[in-house]
Amino acid sequence: MTETSSGADHLTTLDTTVAHSARLWNYLLGGKDNFAVDREAAEEVLAYMPELVQSARFNREFLGRAVRFLAGEAGIRQFLDLGAGLPTQDCVHELAQAIAPDARVVYVDNDPVACSHGQALLGPGDRVGFVLGDLHRPAEILRHPEVLARLDFSRPVGVLCACALHFVPDEEQPHQIIARYRDHLAPGSFLAITHGISAATPEDDPDGLVERVTDVYRTASAQIHVRPVQEIERFFDGFEIIEPGVVWMARWRPDPGTSPAGRPNSLYGGVGRKPAP
Ligand SMILES: C[S@@+](CC[C@H](N)C(=O)[O-])C[C@H]1O[C@@H](n2cnc3c(N)ncnc32)[C@H](O)[C@@H]1O
Repeated sequence: MTETSSGADHLTTLDTTVAHSARLWNYLLGGKDNFAVDREAAEEVLAYMPELVQSARFNREFLGRAVRFLAGEAGIRQFLDLGAGLPTQDCVHELAQAIAPDARVVYVDNDPVACSHGQALLGPGDRVGFVLGDLHRPAEILRHPEVLARLDFSRPVGVLCACALHFVPDEEQPHQIIARYRDHLAPGSFLAITHGISAATPEDDPDGLVERVTDVYRTASAQIHVRPVQEIERFFDGFEIIEPGVVWMARWRPDPGTSPAGRPNSLYGGVGRKPAP
């Protein structure tokens, strides 16, 4: 694994004059860990796309179902949550440890606010940690002492990357980044992703909402790069995609007795398993 530079220069510094995706998302989820600039940007996005609040909630629900599937049916006991965001309700470690009390979780985010809140909330502990890190740098993350103190990569790990890969531009080769995590994982490991989707045809997005939301993020700390579903499926190269595939996240294994409401839009999700060689 090679990466061009090391050090913390690539990590987000605290700037309360620029909207940050972690804090904007926190606002959408009803959290309090955000600044005026984040709230203004969020309100601007919501003016175009009020259903984004629902999308943020559906995304957390997808993550919840995926973690319960991994900790339950798949027997996963270690999780690496990339682009974890500010801690909210239904944190990954709470969901996983409700099924498997010995489950270990490391959260990673490049936002210092998310990281310091996460560390304060979790306190010291050998099972759960929060690391300030850049997911673009798999070698740094996978060798980070706080990660290695909790995760054993000779055994299966569930890697989660919800709503974070669309902040990686094509020039940074997001598929190769994920492939480097994949190559480091033991067979039987899993990858769960949600990702912003681009409209396949103008009819899919008659009001040009995707373009307008993307515009609002243009002045934020990170820009959005939505992708067609085929590009999202390509993140699972080298994984077996679990049924029902990469789909509108609310349609991914909905809890019995529930049915997805709202119009399928914005975020697709899927889960894949790394097979034995
Ligand atoms: C939209 S939020 C999603 C948070 C959470 N995963 C969820 O699904 O609710 C995106 C998160 O990705 C983080 N992020 C963006 N680029 C990142 C990077 N290069 N490295 C680590 N985290 C990143 C942001 O700071 C933010 O917390």
